[in-house]
Amino acid sequence: MRGIILAGGSGTRLRPLTQVLSKQLLPVFDKPLIYYPLSVLMLAGVREILVISMPGHIDQYRSLLGDGERLGIELSYLEQDQPRGIADALVLGREFVGDEQVALILGDNIFHGHDLARVLQEQVVKLSGATLFGHSVADPQRYGVAVFDDSGRFVDIEEKPQRPRSTMAVTGMYLYDNEALDYAQQLVPSPRGELEITDLNRRFVTEGRAQLVDLGRGTMWLDAGTHESLLEAGNYVRVLQQRQGVQIACIEEVAYRVGTLDLAGLEAAIERVGVASDYGAYLRQVQDDHQRRATAHEGL
Ligand code: DAU
Repeated sequence: MRGIILAGGSGTRLRPLTQVLSKQLLPVFDKPLIYYPLSVLMLAGVREILVISMPGHIDQYRSLLGDGERLGIELSYLEQDQPRGIADALVLGREFVGDEQVALILGDNIFHGHDLARVLQEQVVKLSGATLFGHSVADPQRYGVAVFDDSGRFVDIEEKPQRPRSTMAVTGMYLYDNEALDYAQQLVPSPRGELEITDLNRRFVTEGRAQLVDLGRGTMWLDAGTHESLLEAGNYVRVLQQRQGVQIACIEEVAYRVGTLDLAGLEAAIERVGVASDYGAYLRQVQDDHQRRATAHEGL
């Protein structure tokens, strides 16, 4: 499966923060926002990832993340010159995806939960059509919202409805079979001029080929699209990290745990970041923990 992170858009709701900076590079506590969706794709087992952003911002992503070698994955980059809609990512990414399945994630979506990697990996294996991930929210009118019939069957999605028919938001992470690329190509722009991801998803729903997986209470989902939600996300990450002593979305740690990075790669990352930062010091701790465990194992 190939992965796409959509990290474009003009960030108008976050001006002046996004006057010169790409929204998905803004800090969420101690890391750039894009680290969070990137780590989710890596945890799902995706190794080839395309980052799509605005022309003026691509070089910033490239200098932050490189070609992915330092994480043991492959990263490539593509420009979206206008925010033509979320589904445009599948039009632009056509060549990159080729004949494979595709996982699309929005660059401003943060997911966190102890079981998340397992849930994602399971869904990747059994993907047929489209798999969407739902999360119950207090303000569904801000999102794509799932509609269920009387028997609880998932039958439709409404984009930002004034009167939501459920509290189940459709999050910004989507798994698709390859024909999603053709479907995206066939979409017509909505009245606001965008290729709507909800229109694409509705096609799969109508065909009876869309699954909605409820991420449930054990998973946190945040969309950092407003100042409030960006701050909320930062606070969430800070509280969890400080309480538990483990980091959320430390991409080198994730790479190490999923096996794309070895100890030497981890060491190189520590040297690059430096232990003066909490992030670098944490990576050193991950490495030390590993070495302690290895020594304990030898002693058995
Ligand atoms: O966060 C989940 C929600 O994302 C879903 O529930 C909605 O169904 C979906 O439409 C979307 O709603 P948003 O209002 O958050 O979409 P927005 O236009 O803000 O775009 C989401 C992100 O994608 C944003 O960070 C910018 C980026 N983007 C968006 C468009 C339209 C692009 O990079 N290019 C684009 O053309």
